Formats: sequence, structure tokens, C-alpha cells
Amino acid sequence: ADVPVITVDGPSGAGKGTLSHLLADTLHWHFLDSGALYRVTGHACLLEKVSWDDHAAVAEVARHLQVDFRTDAAGEVRVIYKGVDVSRDIRTEEGGRGASTVAAIPAVRDALLQRQREFRQAPGLVADGRDMGTVVFPDAPLKIFLTASATERAERRYRQLLAKGEDVSLPRLLGDIEERDARDSSRSVAPLVPAEDAIVIDSSNLPITAVFAEVMRAVRRKG
Ligand code: C5P
Repeated sequence: ADVPVITVDGPSGAGKGTLSHLLADTLHWHFLDSGALYRVTGHACLLEKVSWDDHAAVAEVARHLQVDFRTDAAGEVRVIYKGVDVSRDIRTEEGGRGASTVAAIPAVRDALLQRQREFRQAPGLVADGRDMGTVVFPDAPLKIFLTASATERAERRYRQLLAKGEDVSLPRLLGDIEERDARDSSRSVAPLVPAEDAIVIDSSNLPITAVFAEVMRAVRRKG
């Protein structure tokens, strides 16, 4: 695996998605949204009437997941499950809950491991997730762990949802974020922790452009 990978891990709302897209666009590299694979798995279970608690059945769904990523005319990545665009469905709060629930099942993570590694293609890959640097691409030459305080992440999410015209409560969002953080960091398989060789960046008080500039400096140092 000589193809370079930049792994971008961290909790939700830290700005990983924005940073990863900027990196992939600038470098003209491929992009892996690993969270989308877990989200589609959770969503597929709802469609197939498989309970998130039935671990063997959920793993079976993950193993046979018919998912495609397509870039539309506007340059947006669309997530296609069995030929249907589910991009919007998987981004709901329920989609996040489903993803985080099925992601705690070891057999599901196993089922998705090889599929994630297949994204590693020339000239390079930017991989966005929770365990990209620790489990999926442990040999990645550049690993970023992007974090931000729970309050800051809740406020960002709040502003996003308000802008979309959604009726939301900030305390509830903060509660959801703290609950998801706790579940993601305490699970026994692939808990959310920085890889030992990751560069840890706290974006609480940093605009994403500053984070991007810092990562690009690291990319250039690696040559
Ligand atoms: O990144 P995103 O918010 O789309 O991820 C949704 C959920 O999927 C996370 O809360 C996490 O539980 C799970 N996930 C994971 N490992 C990854 C990516 C996502 O466990 N590499």
C-alpha cells in the first residue's frame, strides 16, 4: 500500500467533513466518508426491518451493503443505497443514532473494514472517521485528530440546523452530542481515541481555514 492516506478522525461536529473535503479537493485525492457507511448500514436495517439489536443480522446487512458514492452536477457527494439517493435520510438525528448503535457491533466493523481499504487508490486518499488512523489505515503517513469542545460543537450544529429552518433546542443537541461522545469513546471495539502518531488539533477557537492551513503545512513537510 504505497498510496498515501491522510486520516482525519475525531468526534462529530469538530469540522472533519469540511477539512477532509478541502484536503481531497486541493490535493485531487479520493475521499472516504466512513461515517456514511455506518449511517447507511443503520438506515438499511430500518428499510429491511432488521432490529439494530440483532447483531448477526445487522452484520449480514453490512456485509452485503449495496452502497455507492456519486458526485452530482453541483459537486456534492450523494450517497446511493440500492440505487436510491439516501443522502438526506442518513443525515438526520435518527441516522446518527443508528450509525452509532450499529458501529458498536464488532462484526459490523469487520464487515466494513475491507470495503473501506478499497478506497485507497492513486494518487491518494483522505479518510474521514473515528478509527481511520488507529484501525483502518494504521500505516497512514499523516494522521490528524480534530477535536473541539462539546459546547462549541453543539453550537455549530445548532446554527446549521437553524439555517436549514429546523426547530431545535441547544440543550438537547448538547445532550445528544455528549451521549454520542460517551458511547463512541467507551465502546470496546475501535473506541474514539487519537492514534499515537496523530497530530491533535483543537478547533474550538480556530476557523476551519486555519486548521486547513496547518494540515497543508504538515502535508508539505511530509513531501
Ligand atoms: O461521522 P458521522 O457522524 O457520519 O458518523 C456517524 C457515527 O458512525 C459515529 O457517531 C460513530 O458512532 C460511527 N462511526 C464509527 N467509525 C467511523 C465513522 C463513524 O464508529 N470510522
